[in-house]
Amino acid sequence: MAEKVRIRVQVNGVEHTSEVEPRQLLVYYLRETLGLTGTHVGCDTSQCGACVVHVDGQAVKSCTMFAVQADGAKITTIEGLGEMGRLHPVQEGFWEMHGLQCGFCTPGMIMAAADLLNKNPNPSEQEIRHALEGNLCRCTGYHNIVRAVQYAAQKMQSGVAADD
Ligand code: FES
Ligand code: FES
Repeated sequence: MAEKVRIRVQVNGVEHTSEVEPRQLLVYYLRETLGLTGTHVGCDTSQCGACVVHVDGQAVKSCTMFAVQADGAKITTIEGLGEMGRLHPVQEGFWEMHGLQCGFCTPGMIMAAADLLNKNPNPSEQEIRHALEGNLCRCTGYHNIVRAVQYAAQKMQSGVAADD
């Protein structure tokens, strides 16, 4: 068995020190070591975007990096974006605009959309679609997902600060 490497990460505001195999992908560290199963694995080819989390404030497909590469980083997963009774505006948008059906893609979609709105608070429909190109949804046809992001953008501009 490969020698393990000690990493220290902050995930959703909580510090974790772990011994990980150098080949362990960040997504499996989050799901299997930390039990944060809201981050999904939908492919093994870096295409679907179900695994998107924020690493030091940037949206990252967590199946494309090793856990050891996250050493020292601050990570936010879908579990850390909003709270019970106080959803992040993007989460609220998906709820209000029916942006999901089976929900498998939803955590990654929400994390990618939140990253977009952090960088561009007032995106056009084209910009929203472009930003979500790396996230695949087999259920919704994307229309309500775009409406959900537009809802969130409006809500955030009306004075509700985004977390993260
Ligand atoms: S599981 Fe990471 S892109 Fe599909
Ligand atoms: S809601 Fe089912 S894959 Fe997107």
